[in-house]
Amino acid sequence: MPSSNQDLAYLPIDHSLIGEWIVVASTEEFKDKSSVTTRLDRQALTLDKLDQYYQIRFLSSEMQDVPVQTQEAYGFIWLCIGTPNKALFTLEEYDHPQARLVPCGAYGVRTSPLRAVENFLDMAHFPYVHTNILGAEPLTAVKPYQVEHRQNVDELWATECVFTQPLAAPNSQEPQETEYIYRVLSPLNVLLYKINTAASGVIPADVICLFIQPLGETQIRAHLLMVLDDQNSHMTDMVLFQQKIFTQDKPILENHVPLKLPLAARIEIPTRADAMATAYRKWLVDKHWTYGSDLQKEVLA
Ligand SMILES: [Fe+2]
Repeated sequence: MPSSNQDLAYLPIDHSLIGEWIVVASTEEFKDKSSVTTRLDRQALTLDKLDQYYQIRFLSSEMQDVPVQTQEAYGFIWLCIGTPNKALFTLEEYDHPQARLVPCGAYGVRTSPLRAVENFLDMAHFPYVHTNILGAEPLTAVKPYQVEHRQNVDELWATECVFTQPLAAPNSQEPQETEYIYRVLSPLNVLLYKINTAASGVIPADVICLFIQPLGETQIRAHLLMVLDDQNSHMTDMVLFQQKIFTQDKPILENHVPLKLPLAARIEIPTRADAMATAYRKWLVDKHWTYGSDLQKEVLA
């Protein structure tokens, strides 16, 4: 058994992914079967549902003895190769008995995992990509907001984010100023809190989560989960709402040039509206994270 994650450099899994908690399936996928085959960074793996836990088997001979931990949380199966860099994040709203748990499925997208996270953090695209839903012209300005690195949990938070939205949620009756809080949990996992003024207040805010399963550096499965304070909408309508939003994002993500996130140089000039994206990129560079970016891991070694 290797003594540290450094000793796992021989594995055919990118070094950035070692020690990270990564979603590889949702529990929904096991509704009518006990085994699921999927991929992580080009490596095929099978998940078998046993009585008390999920067993993971990588199919390649090079991955046979890999130290891997698994856990089920928030409706997903997570794995971590090697020693976890930190514990899995906490999401208290998920356990609230009256919160509506809305798994929205997984979407295959030809993009970098980092592009998908950065797009999720970007309010500036609302009026142009989610026109008349999450934004509308002429109200296109992103107002200043606060960004902080919470070092005790190594998460990035953006607070005081406000945007005027025509249709903020499936049960919205009229346009509203919507307040967001963004939370980058780890390089591949992000969520936002959306203060839903139309809600009854059983949880402080709706929660929308994006968990990235990297199939390769420019191919992902994007797993979406919503935890909503909505006692009335049909499950189908809530899922369709989120599907509509995500299918608007997908072609944008797939047409980025380059597909990988530029971290090596300031190729894309940040603006004040990009404060969270800028913090995310800097945080990745500080971690020596290269996967899905234009950085070469040899340069950082
Ligand atoms: Fe979007």
